Amino acid sequence: MTKLIINGNKTLRGEINISGNKNAVLPCLAASLMGNSPSIFSNVPQIEDVKVSIKLLEALGCNITWQNDHTLIVDPTKISTFELDPNLVAKLRASILYLGPLLAKFGSAKMRHPGGCIIGRRPVGTHFDALSQLGAEITVDETNYEANLNHEPVSEIFLDEVSVTATENALCLASSSPRTTRILGAACEPHVVNLAEYLSKMGAKIEGAGTNTITITGTKDLVGCEHEISPDYIETATFAILASSTNSQITINNCRQSDFHMIGVYLKHFGVNFKFVDSKTLVISPGQLKAPESIKEIQTRPWPGFPTDALSPLIVLATQASGSTLFHEWMYDGRLLFTDMLVTMGAKIITCDPHRVIVSGPTKLRGKNLASPDIRAGIALVIAGLIADGTTVIDNAHLIYRGYENITQRLIQLGADIKEE
Ligand code: EPU
Repeated sequence: MTKLIINGNKTLRGEINISGNKNAVLPCLAASLMGNSPSIFSNVPQIEDVKVSIKLLEALGCNITWQNDHTLIVDPTKISTFELDPNLVAKLRASILYLGPLLAKFGSAKMRHPGGCIIGRRPVGTHFDALSQLGAEITVDETNYEANLNHEPVSEIFLDEVSVTATENALCLASSSPRTTRILGAACEPHVVNLAEYLSKMGAKIEGAGTNTITITGTKDLVGCEHEISPDYIETATFAILASSTNSQITINNCRQSDFHMIGVYLKHFGVNFKFVDSKTLVISPGQLKAPESIKEIQTRPWPGFPTDALSPLIVLATQASGSTLFHEWMYDGRLLFTDMLVTMGAKIITCDPHRVIVSGPTKLRGKNLASPDIRAGIALVIAGLIADGTTVIDNAHLIYRGYENITQRLIQLGADIKEE
């Protein structure tokens, strides 16, 4: 178990570089096993979820080497099994992303129920539905999923939820078949687009990625290739919020302006002072934070709406804004539970129901002993600790390292008083 110890109430200053997108690299790594030659990925974040993914691939028989700090070579040519290591699957919800690629490679896949962050009910029905429409029969028992390709796929599938990882599973399986498949109701997130770009370089013809209808004509001969992981827009949002909440001047490098539309809209409502000096460089300056006046609520939505994974930090920002804000977390019924910890720090937050809280500010926060419940609530607690008077201790910090590379050192470089124990 790891702890973060933060002495807060300090203004930060400097520059921070955005890492590769966690939710882009995880499906790309899974998809790489479909190639008949090695793939080389650049801008790979050094995060715990990537380390678990590497172990999963190695346990399947892939050979993995780091070419340098952020460049990873995956050689899938010796892959020998379609069964995922159950101990590793227990650590990573994104293990579900291996179902489509393993089916593509072997016609079969076997895994235990995946683990991962506890942020509410996360059904996998849409995955099974999509893969069944693409020809798989899936049996589920108390511990395992087993999938086998055994019937003709249909040419048009409809996803009853705009699930990100179900879209990615369907994209992978469809990319390995010479038929043409249309996915209706597809998720549109930037990481779905990044995966589609990788699959296209491997040899699939893909149109419409980034919209809710994707058309794929695949091939049996997917080839390994070079691919760059797109920048993490959740990190960009998180560091913008961190800068603004601590009244700091921070330059965020290597981000992508085109992924910032809705995040920018909501930050403007809160009075966050930000400016893109070019399409990759965002500067946050101190500003007068205020609760949004002209919108009814802050609501998470599938892309291009405000991303659920940036909501927890934004709630912390609202504790420093004058006025009251209603937050509506549309997706997860456990995401908002961490706000109880902010209340112990002095925040004024009323829980309306599992999906809605009202935050009133500005409030002084006091350092506390806390435990990170998941990646995103964990980083939100770090921001709260940076704002608070006194010392904040965050237990279970390993959950934060699942999604944020080298976070302690990066914050120290900005002038934060933070250490690991
Ligand atoms: N949902 C609905 N209706 C919808 C869409 C989603 O009810 O139309 C609910 C479902 O209950 C579902 C949940 O919302 O389980 C999440 O949706 P989705 O299936 O899209 O989530 P996911 O594919 O399991 C990915 C990310 C999550 C991120 C969500 C939503 C990866 C590896 N994970 O999960 O990332 O929160 O999309 O954008 O891509 C994280 O990075 O911390 C994380 C949890």
